[in-house]
Amino acid sequence: MDRRRWCGSVLGLGFVLLGVGCERAPDDAGPILIGHFASMTGSEATWGVSTDRGVRMAVDEANAEGGVRGRRLKVITYDNQGKQQESATAVTRLITQDKVVAVLGEVASSRSIAGGQVAQRFGVPMISPSSTNPKVTEIGDMISRVCFIDPFQGYACAKFARGEPLRAQKAATLYNRAQIYSTGLNETFREHFAKLGGTITTEQAYSDGDTDFSAQLTNIRGTAPDVIFVPGYYTEVINISVQARRLGITVPLLGGDGWDAEDLKNAGAALDGCFFCNHYSHEDPRPAVQEFVRKYKALEGGRVPDGMAATGYDAARLLIDAMRRAPSLSGKDLAAAIAATKDFPGVTGVITIDAQRNARKPAVILRLQGGKPSFVTSIDPPE
Ligand code: PHE
Repeated sequence: MDRRRWCGSVLGLGFVLLGVGCERAPDDAGPILIGHFASMTGSEATWGVSTDRGVRMAVDEANAEGGVRGRRLKVITYDNQGKQQESATAVTRLITQDKVVAVLGEVASSRSIAGGQVAQRFGVPMISPSSTNPKVTEIGDMISRVCFIDPFQGYACAKFARGEPLRAQKAATLYNRAQIYSTGLNETFREHFAKLGGTITTEQAYSDGDTDFSAQLTNIRGTAPDVIFVPGYYTEVINISVQARRLGITVPLLGGDGWDAEDLKNAGAALDGCFFCNHYSHEDPRPAVQEFVRKYKALEGGRVPDGMAATGYDAARLLIDAMRRAPSLSGKDLAAAIAATKDFPGVTGVITIDAQRNARKPAVILRLQGGKPSFVTSIDPPE
């Protein structure tokens, strides 16, 4: 006989006092479940894997401190293979079958939108660690994020391109027309680069799964830009950089957080001296960052945590903090506690969730050499 039926029969026999121990609703028994949907496989697999490592590290730490509200936390991760449709399916399953109290995910904005629509419909809070397109949190009050958004990221990239050491006057762009992240970031870069006095020479586009960029790069070469802005994802960026060098293009490429992956080393020297914008640098001397890097390396065999490991860790820790503050773990109460977060000390910066449920934080610019990113500068959001 399982525990609930046992409680039921004891109560049925009139042992009211014994029944006290059984008063907890069935949903309150056992660990608190947190869902994570992520690209654990596919062309952006490093993102899902890194984020999941950060999430689990935060949850293990909370459990070692005694859990939350007297209960242990448990993470259930589903692989969406980097697909939009699979993201909706994964979130549906986490909510309807596993009954998670909150969902973490995704990295790519298009997949956060697909999963976020489901979470909003079921009234379950979702926190995206690193999706930067504004539309993600516009879905509704259940959806928030712990990272900055692309109107700021585009500004940060344009500001950096115009300043030292690039001092670019002319920029070409090459973006993915199939990803809302890429089209959005391309737009905001274009707008800010022009506002800051630069000229866009050409905007070229490609699509998901493309591997040959020589036509677009040949067009770009003809316009002789000082820099090429590539707001794409890392697998594309590797091919683009190698093909650009083969075509004799020597100017630096500049990109956004979508570049962040250890795999960039597969570009060989093609990305040496190129720059990208990101959520954090492992070289940041702040004690919170160095402590995180040390703990992560100890757990992961010396691996340096990338931006997604850091944003995953921050998203999970912020969620846990909200779980502790919320009057209950109902979707409504938990979403309100997340939205009320102020000055939360994250690894990726101090996080305050604003009225649109986004985080306002500085961005870092990293320079690549041998596939390894190193810190160049940090850019604050404009007033
Ligand atoms: N910001 C990207 C998006 O919204 C995803 C991303 C985040 C990629 C962090 C790499 C690192 O699609």
